[in-house]
Amino acid sequence: MRTKPIADVIVQGGDDEGGGQRLRRRLGPLDLMGFGIGIVIGTGIFTLTGIEARDHAGPAVIVSFVLAGVASLLAALCYAELASSVPTAGSAYTYAYATMGEIIAWIIGWDLVLEFALGAAVVARGWSGYLAELLHLPGSVFGESSTVNLGAVLITLVLGGVATLGIRQSSRVTNALVVVKVAICLFVVVAGAFFVRAANLTPFVPPAQPSGAGESGLTRPLSQVVFGLEPSAFGVAGVLTAAAVVFFAYTGFEAVANLGEETRRPRRDLPLGLFGTLAISALLYVLVSFVVVGMVDYRQIDPGAPIASAFSAVGAGWASALVSIAAVAGLTSVILVDIVAIGRIGFAMSRDGLLPPAAGAVHPRWGTPYRTTLVVTGGIALLAGFVPLSSLANLVSIGTLFAFVIVSAAVPILRRTMPQLERPFRVPLSPVVPALSALACLYLMTNLSVETWLRFLVWMALGLVVYLGYGRRRSRVAAKGYESRSVR
Ligand code: ALA
Repeated sequence: MRTKPIADVIVQGGDDEGGGQRLRRRLGPLDLMGFGIGIVIGTGIFTLTGIEARDHAGPAVIVSFVLAGVASLLAALCYAELASSVPTAGSAYTYAYATMGEIIAWIIGWDLVLEFALGAAVVARGWSGYLAELLHLPGSVFGESSTVNLGAVLITLVLGGVATLGIRQSSRVTNALVVVKVAICLFVVVAGAFFVRAANLTPFVPPAQPSGAGESGLTRPLSQVVFGLEPSAFGVAGVLTAAAVVFFAYTGFEAVANLGEETRRPRRDLPLGLFGTLAISALLYVLVSFVVVGMVDYRQIDPGAPIASAFSAVGAGWASALVSIAAVAGLTSVILVDIVAIGRIGFAMSRDGLLPPAAGAVHPRWGTPYRTTLVVTGGIALLAGFVPLSSLANLVSIGTLFAFVIVSAAVPILRRTMPQLERPFRVPLSPVVPALSALACLYLMTNLSVETWLRFLVWMALGLVVYLGYGRRRSRVAAKGYESRSVR
């Protein structure tokens, strides 16, 4: 339960220390938004819109996107307070370390590794599939049915190389990709608006109906199983279930907080980066989902490629190539920012002694945590190359939601333990808003499937074994003899 003194976090992340273990401050607010949008807009909007409209929410999938956006905004407020007061590469991991103790910090660090590494691997496979479709490449080495997904391996290695070479290089590549995908999303909205028919939007919330014939207990939402509810689709419950699933589309914005030690003016710019990312992504999501369900009757949506097929359905098939280009550009930047973020978390954990010291080495010229970045890239490439992962996307969501719960709880704890800390951004109405944030995230978590929960628990148990076997004894906070809160 030992905690890391905030003063240490601030000194480590500050400007005034020399030495090799420092990241370089090279980013401004637009770079942060670029990274944020780079990681947020990916497969979610391009696939989940169709699946959730058809299976759970109907046209009200728009409302599901709004609800998931509100839950994300509540969490973003909490992130903004912590990131602006304690800018650090570790983000949620470090906030937990400073407030709840080492074991929770480790769990969160481990959880973030799951979120970002698995996210990158899932998306790399999706990338390979989209590219194959766009360029008519062979299915044996591209896409989900391949034996060895060479496309996913190659893209991971290339982007791992970019992330290793420097944060500026990563930022330039990300920004270019973001411009392409945002431009194409805007195009979808403007061009699609001409084909929206009011008839497709009614009934807006289709009446609830029993579903789930053939759904086993494992694939049902945890809340349904625990409370013994009958599986149903549509209606208000369907909109809420869809909100938990489309939450995936928002995951990743919190990676902006991991860039705290590379931002020139972190106290001002981290909140800007977080809110800017979320505002732009949420707006695009709501508009794109409106256009998709407005163009096609939700019962006829193609779940695999909802946007492209919506255009084909109205006789504008030429637009589908554009959508595929946006998807490929979008997915490329998601993978890149995932790899960048994970390097920072590994760096922070190694600096604290919870991972081997070699992992935290910063390259003298590139200024990046190159060893963690390269090792993680190798791991993601293997995973993406050999394991069919598409069913694991929900693990990314549960991991993210869990981190959000912890970050929400950290806000009022830190207000109490460090009331005098300078807070450039303050969550309004704390502890009410942080409590609402934690509850919203917990609620979304219970709407994920039992199977996802079981996989998540197994991953966490594995993490505890690693901690007990290594970090517990190597922790630098332990070595320094800090004895938790009483010292401060
Ligand atoms: N939020 C990202 C996506 O939708 C991971 O692909």
